Amino acid sequence: MARKKIALIGGGQIGGVLAQLIAMRQLGDVVMYDIVEDLPQGKTLDIAEAARVDGFDVSVTGTNSYKDIAGSDLVIVTAGLPRKPGMSRDDLLTTNAKIIKAVAEGVKEYAPNSIVMIISNPLDAMVTLFKKVSGFPANRVLGQAGVLDSSRFATFIAWELGVSVKDVNAMVLGGHGDTMVPLVRYANVNGIPAMEMLERKYKDKAKAVEVMNAMVERTKMAGGEVVKLLKTGSAFYSPASSAVAMAQSILLDEKRLFPACALLNGEFGINGYYVGVTTVLGANGVERVVELSLSAEEQAALDNSVNAVKKLVEDMERLGF
Ligand code: NAD
Ligand code: LAC
Repeated sequence: MARKKIALIGGGQIGGVLAQLIAMRQLGDVVMYDIVEDLPQGKTLDIAEAARVDGFDVSVTGTNSYKDIAGSDLVIVTAGLPRKPGMSRDDLLTTNAKIIKAVAEGVKEYAPNSIVMIISNPLDAMVTLFKKVSGFPANRVLGQAGVLDSSRFATFIAWELGVSVKDVNAMVLGGHGDTMVPLVRYANVNGIPAMEMLERKYKDKAKAVEVMNAMVERTKMAGGEVVKLLKTGSAFYSPASSAVAMAQSILLDEKRLFPACALLNGEFGINGYYVGVTTVLGANGVERVVELSLSAEEQAALDNSVNAVKKLVEDMERLGF
């Protein structure tokens, strides 16, 4: 069976880790595209020269020409500026919208049958723009944010409860911003509600609620926490790992249930907008949206997050995108 082909549009911090992780998992041949001359060629040559040590046979190559992404099965887009301390993801809107518009035109021309995963921020707006410019069907345009945000939430819960993170299930829905919605009620440790474990740990319901609320807030602000420490950019290891887990589900048709930025047509009471929801990811991309029964409070939080996305999309449209 012919190997899959994965195009990485953007060879920066996340792009470099994506290339290495995809190669080491042997998910397919990697072509990295960037506008900076020789950057993708240099990064991919470096990764490829570790093939003997890392034990992979897939090819990893770089290019400054879109024609080399032809025939890609999956395209992962990180082209765009990351934020710096003091910036919100929304502050990247104008600059990155110009970039994503150009990327969409290039992918539409050279990889018209690919599934496209957007990572560039502001995420929900960039996925919306890529869909609009490319005209690709909704199942083939998605965004990565919820897997990262959910992994952060699960990690904080694991640290607090002193259990393996491998046994923690946590889900974050909504836009990839301060209004994201960590679903406390669905958080569990091998089926045991996380709140029940917290209440047993502290023997005090009010304290358990206080500790969970602090983890919810840390999850919402986790991106900024890393930006503040790095000072030169934003997180890139955990976003890359999150995107590769989604990529693997698509390329190997794993049908993983992952939060992903997907186009809604009435699900969760939302119509015509891209936002982070529970999805099944397989060979056809977003194969279906999985609706959850949300409490009135959870639905209100999701609606609030969607409203933030709607405002960003309106701002983007006012800018002419
Ligand atoms: P980076 O600056 O290291 O890399 C971005 C790369 O894009 C650079 O190499 C740059 O040359 C390239 N680029 C710029 N314009 C381009 C164009 N027109 N075509 C192709 N390539 C182009 O940034 P990074 O840390 O890799 O982050 C990339 C994006 O991902 C940022 O927008 C960041 O905010 C976002 N991000 C998203 C998540 C998420 O979970 N969705 C997490 C972290 C970062
Ligand atoms: C950031 C990523 C996490 O901007 O979206 O920090």
